[in-house]
Amino acid sequence: MNEPLYDPLSPDVSRDPYPHYEALRREAPVYRIPGSGFYAVSRYEDVAQVLKDPDQFSSNAMRMMMMSSMTGGIQNMPKDIEEIREQRQQVAEQLSFDPAMFLSAQSVISSDPPKHGPMRGIVNRGFTPKKISALEPRVREIARTLLDEALAGDSFDLVNDYSIPLPVQVIAELLGVEPERHGDFKRWSDTVVSGASGSAAGPAEMIATFGEFTEYFNEIMERRRVEPADDLISTLVRAEEGDTLTPVEVVMFAVLLLVAGNETTTNLIGNGTMALIEHPDQFQKVRGDPNLIPAFVEEALRYDSPVQVLFRQATSDVELAGTTIPKGSVVLPIFASANRDDAQFPEADRFDVSRNTAGHLAFGFGIHFCLGASLARLEARVAFEELLGRVARLERMEQEVDYIDSFLLRGPKRLPLRFEPA
Ligand code: HEM
Repeated sequence: MNEPLYDPLSPDVSRDPYPHYEALRREAPVYRIPGSGFYAVSRYEDVAQVLKDPDQFSSNAMRMMMMSSMTGGIQNMPKDIEEIREQRQQVAEQLSFDPAMFLSAQSVISSDPPKHGPMRGIVNRGFTPKKISALEPRVREIARTLLDEALAGDSFDLVNDYSIPLPVQVIAELLGVEPERHGDFKRWSDTVVSGASGSAAGPAEMIATFGEFTEYFNEIMERRRVEPADDLISTLVRAEEGDTLTPVEVVMFAVLLLVAGNETTTNLIGNGTMALIEHPDQFQKVRGDPNLIPAFVEEALRYDSPVQVLFRQATSDVELAGTTIPKGSVVLPIFASANRDDAQFPEADRFDVSRNTAGHLAFGFGIHFCLGASLARLEARVAFEELLGRVARLERMEQEVDYIDSFLLRGPKRLPLRFEPA
């Protein structure tokens, strides 16, 4: 049998998905993945079409990702919507949630209109441009403290010492997790994220972690009901009191923030650093003119997108690029492939911080456009301003870069670097 054009679970794809995407765009822009009934969509125009049309392409299928973070990884990912229901039932039983409440719990990322708008409205209040830009001094302080320690020797691991702890700490503070619980929060976050991205933890560990996480959040929500503070948990609790969110939904939203906001930003900083190391001319250009950092961050998002692929479900038979996708099928819009489509970005495989990146799909498009985009941009800009201000050169210590085992998210698992101080 011929090799499939794209097999999301093959290690080859985690290592370097781009030749596979190129083959898909050229040969089968809407490709039924053998043995799965999933349809991969790879051209810019078609990915944008899928994201633009929530009536035809429902985000219901995003529950698969949320569930996989609780049930032990993407390898255990449910094959269809029925299986999602079964997995949810099991998780509800094991966590002693009210099963009815758990089964009907909505999450902003997996809901469609008309439910999506009001849910997004609630959390939007925590992410206004004013609130985000007010975080800059604190984000910088966190970045500096991490670098003080990381750069104390003559080498460091960019991922474990810098790009992982930075966003975790920011989200913990934004939510209102007390400083003495940051260690626990980091541990929960690592487990939840390793589940979502398909590595490490097995189902038992996931459930145990999720249980601890829920217990803590119930506790802190209780305190914020009595004494609200200026944090996201208080915003969520107010929504709960206004009957907009159920208690389970509040906890699920906190989990969503961990999954959606941490590893993605970690990967952006990791992939951006990789791109700079592999393109020394671009490294020098950006280092020489820090005003280029925001443009570099956009190009890094386009060139090696932290979120490669997500899920939708066809609500009726639909034709896309000449292929009929049957009702109920799971559709995989490949954001990272759209961003490498020459039809949209000339010479798309070239990394060039001066190019026009407008319209890249790394944060999605349409009603589900990333809620945390301005926070992610702030974190990445500050992370690179601080890093490039302190190193004149970066060099990889390992020849092979080990990528996280996931076709959804892309980024180095670790990145040990030698550096020359500025
Ligand atoms: C570089 C970092 C990030 C990337 C690449 C990224 C990417 C994305 C993408 C592609 C979507 C669209 C999902 C869809 O269409 O189904 C999305 C949605 C979302 N993101 Fe991000 N994200 C990042 C950082 C963050 C951060 C820092 C947060 C919050 C702290 C966040 C929270 C969310 C939420 C809540 C949604 C769902 C929005 C909705 O459904 O309306 N993200 N993100």
